[in-house]
Amino acid sequence: MINIAIDGPSGAGKSTLAKAIAKALNIHYLDTGAMYRGLAYAALQAGVDVKDQTQVERFLGTADMKTVYADGEQRVLVNGRDVMPYIRTPEVSKAASDISAHPCVRMKLVSMQRDVASQYDLVLDGRDIGTFVLPNAKHKFFVTADVEERARRRFREDLARGIKSDFQSVLENMRERDRNDSSRSLAPLKKADDAVLIDTTDMNIDAVLDFVLSILKQE
Ligand code: DC
Repeated sequence: MINIAIDGPSGAGKSTLAKAIAKALNIHYLDTGAMYRGLAYAALQAGVDVKDQTQVERFLGTADMKTVYADGEQRVLVNGRDVMPYIRTPEVSKAASDISAHPCVRMKLVSMQRDVASQYDLVLDGRDIGTFVLPNAKHKFFVTADVEERARRRFREDLARGIKSDFQSVLENMRERDRNDSSRSLAPLKKADDAVLIDTTDMNIDAVLDFVLSILKQE
């Protein structure tokens, strides 16, 4: 199986890049953030305090999570319900970052991710793919950009999706998630030593994709 790991902070362009690579190579794409978001959304719906380990553990025991592909598109199902339409709000972003810090959550979702990676040629994006989920992945990239540029991109995406937000709170939310995701004790956001670093601050998606495809061709 070919596995391509794309890690990096929020808003660096990982998912756009990962989707474009999957399309160019005609392989599957796994958005691991969508799994944390799906779980966080379902937990919020169930009235769970996502920072409380005991409540989260109990909820996890009742949540039947599945990641499936329908027409090549990833869907996240929690207790049979497709949660994909509900997971991109600022509340869910924050809750996903909080819930992802619990080791019980990471263990469960990481094992699902490894399972998918053993079945398909796959591009995965996340925070810990190259360091923890698939440390032996042949191809690893760490995609980043200035926090202000990442916030500008997220702000534009929110507007395009019809989500009401203001730039300062997007920036604050992004800084807070960077802190959260980088400081948790288990599998924090971190570049793998053998990952190729790409700073996309001044690059558009076509330039990033060309660069990645040229590396994949060489190896
Ligand atoms: O990539 P994203 O913004 O959709 O991810 C949402 C949150 O999920 C992010 O703040 C941290 C968490 N996450 C993680 O801990 N590990 C991953 N592999 C992917 C996401």
